[in-house]
Formats: sequence, structure tokens, C-alpha cells
Amino acid sequence: MRILSVVGARPNFMKVAPIHEELLRRGVEARLVHTGQHYDRQMSDVFFRQLGLPEPDAYLGVGSGSHAQQTARVMTEFEPVLLDMAPDLVLTVGDVNSTLACSLVANKLGTPVAHVEAGLRSFDRRMPEEINRILTDQLADFLFVTEESGLVNLRAEGIDEGKVHFVGNVMIDTLVRLQPEAAKLGVLQDFGLDERGFALATLHRPSNVDSLENATALAKILDELSGHLQVVFPMHPRTRASFQRFGLLEKITRSSAITLLEPLGYLEFLALMRSAAIVITDSGGIQEETTFLGVPCLTLRENTERPITLELGTNELLPLDAAAVSARVRAILAGPRRDPSRPPLWDGRAAERIVEVFFTGGVGSEAA
Ligand code: UD1
Repeated sequence: MRILSVVGARPNFMKVAPIHEELLRRGVEARLVHTGQHYDRQMSDVFFRQLGLPEPDAYLGVGSGSHAQQTARVMTEFEPVLLDMAPDLVLTVGDVNSTLACSLVANKLGTPVAHVEAGLRSFDRRMPEEINRILTDQLADFLFVTEESGLVNLRAEGIDEGKVHFVGNVMIDTLVRLQPEAAKLGVLQDFGLDERGFALATLHRPSNVDSLENATALAKILDELSGHLQVVFPMHPRTRASFQRFGLLEKITRSSAITLLEPLGYLEFLALMRSAAIVITDSGGIQEETTFLGVPCLTLRENTERPITLELGTNELLPLDAAAVSARVRAILAGPRRDPSRPPLWDGRAAERIVEVFFTGGVGSEAA
């Protein structure tokens, strides 16, 4: 059985790592393609090293561009690689442009597609990721679901239930495996932080950072937050570019209570996340990681495709409004820490379940 897994952008690496490892453990011929959607050392290389991912078998080097350019470049670069490697299955994860592009190429060449993290829906089609999710799920032959809402959404979209498998969350597999290593790093000492004495901010959604109005609102939120506690803000390149363009970097660096950092490696970020008093984010995966860790998470978005984090976890949605965020931060800091429960099957064994489905589903055999 030969399976080709695709990674492209930062949130893909921690999802593919445990699956790739499990494929190898089960004797599958596992291949890795990196599209190069994210290409900086801090957005890509450091993850390969820390997650123990091998050098990719192919690197497509597509880089940045408009959605059309980026998606098209991944497609044209991926097609010959797929033809050459001739896998029995292409595995894609998450909702980035590389996910959709490679799923579409594989489907058109008649290669079965597995989509990991299927069925998540924000019901907000202004998000590029939502389009990627919907279309990838239409193309996939194996759909691996992380939470029960995914089952409901796929059923509503008319996806054949025989293709859908509720397996849990592979990103949590990685977190479970690497948490002890993150704990050993001494990151708090390095940054002069106290356990639970700081807020960790990560913001990069186009809807939050690309316009002057919203970026200004974010800067105000961070400024007010720094009146309550130290704020650590590893900046995504998109966010740094916008803040620079709008002259907002000076505003947030004026306060000595805000520490701006370059994007962090997986282990450093995990170490900060597990020790933060509060996480402020607009990311998808971080809503899930904080739920698993029991750390309060304020998500500055109108919706989430991961509703289980609101129902069982520590996540809350808030508008881009400094007064509303400050009020919630004050309440969280003053109140007792909630005891959230962990979502079903977020137990560190999702990759095992996924690979088992490939064996029982006859991938690579004549019958497939
Ligand atoms: C992409 C994903 C998003 C994910 C995010 C995580 C899509 C549609 N979006 O958004 O779902 O949450 O990755 O980071 O696929 N850049 C660099 N170095 C890099 C990569 C990007 O400087 O290594 C800069 C480029 O200027 C680029 C910008 O960041 O224009 C945005 O990168 P891009 O991959 O287009 O989208 P993200 O905003 O990162």
C-alpha cells in the first residue's frame, strides 16, 4: 500500500506527523509532499524538525500569491508528482489552499482521496477555508471526522455515510506525544514569564487583520489587555505586514506589557499555551488545543467550525471589541477555573484509527 500525504501550511504539519509515523509503523509505503505554501524557516522548517517529519519526497515550492494563483500553482506542480509516485491514495488534512488543490488533482486522476478533519463548517462562506472544506469533502473517498458536528454536517450535505469515519483528532495525538518535551523547554524563564501570569495572542485571519478598521480594533484590544496582564504575541507574517502597513506596530510596542515575537516553533508555542492564563486567537486549531489543555480561550470571530470547543471545552466567541474582551478577561481572571471535559476520542490515538480504516477498507488491494 502506497500512501502520499500532503502538507502545505503551518497547521498541516502537526496533523500529518502522527499519521505518517503510524503508516510507516504499519509497513505502508508512506510518501510526503510539501507544496511550499508556507516556506519560511519559522512557518515550516522548525515544524519538520520538532515533529520528527522526514524530508519530503517532493517539494513543490509554490509560495504565496492570490488564492487563484496559489491554488493553481499547487495543482500544476502536484499533478506530475502524483503521476510519477502513483500512490494508492492521497491524504490531505485541514482546510488550506493546498488541501483543496491536491484533493482536486488526485480526484481527477482517479486516485482515491482521504480528507482528515472532514465535516467542520463555520457556515460562513466569506472564509476561504470554508470553501476549501466544502469542496474537499465533496471530492474525498474517506472522510475522517474529529467531532460529532462533522457527522451531522456531512449527512446534511448528502455525503454517503459509508465514506465517513469518526476517529477523533490527530492534532491532539501530536499534542499528547510532545507535551512532555514542551514542558522541559524552560520557555517561561526564557521570556521572563510567570505560570498563568500572561495572555498569549495569535491572530492572522484575513477578516481580522487585512482591513484598517479591524486591525485598529485588534491593536486596541491588545493595548487594553496589556493593562490586565503581560501579553505575548507571536506574529504571523500576514499580521505583521498589515500592522506595519497601517502604522499599528508602534502603537502596540509602546506598551512594555506587550511582547511581540516572530512565529514560534511547535514546542515553544505549546509550552506557552499550556502555561497561559488566557489565549486570545482567531486560529482554528488553537481553539481545540486550548480545550484539550483546559486553558481559557477567547476566539475573536463571529463563528467557529469547531462547536465542540464551545460546548465541552474552554472556548468562547467574542467580537472585535475592546470593552467586551476586557470584561471577559477580568471575569476569567477573577473567577474559578472551569473544569472542561475533553471531547470524545481526543485521546492521542486518532492516527491509529485512521490507518486501520485504510487496511480494513482495502486501500491498495485489487478489491479497492
Ligand atoms: C493560511 C491558511 C489558513 C491557515 C494559515 C496558518 C489558506 C486559505 N489559508 O493562511 O487557513 O490558518 O495559513 O498560518 O490556505 N508568508 C510568509 N512566509 C510563509 C508563509 C506566508 O511570509 O512561510 C506570508 C506571505 O506574505 C503571504 C502571507 O503570509 O502572502 C499569507 O500566507 P498564505 O499562505 O497565503 O495564507 P495564510 O494567511 O498564512
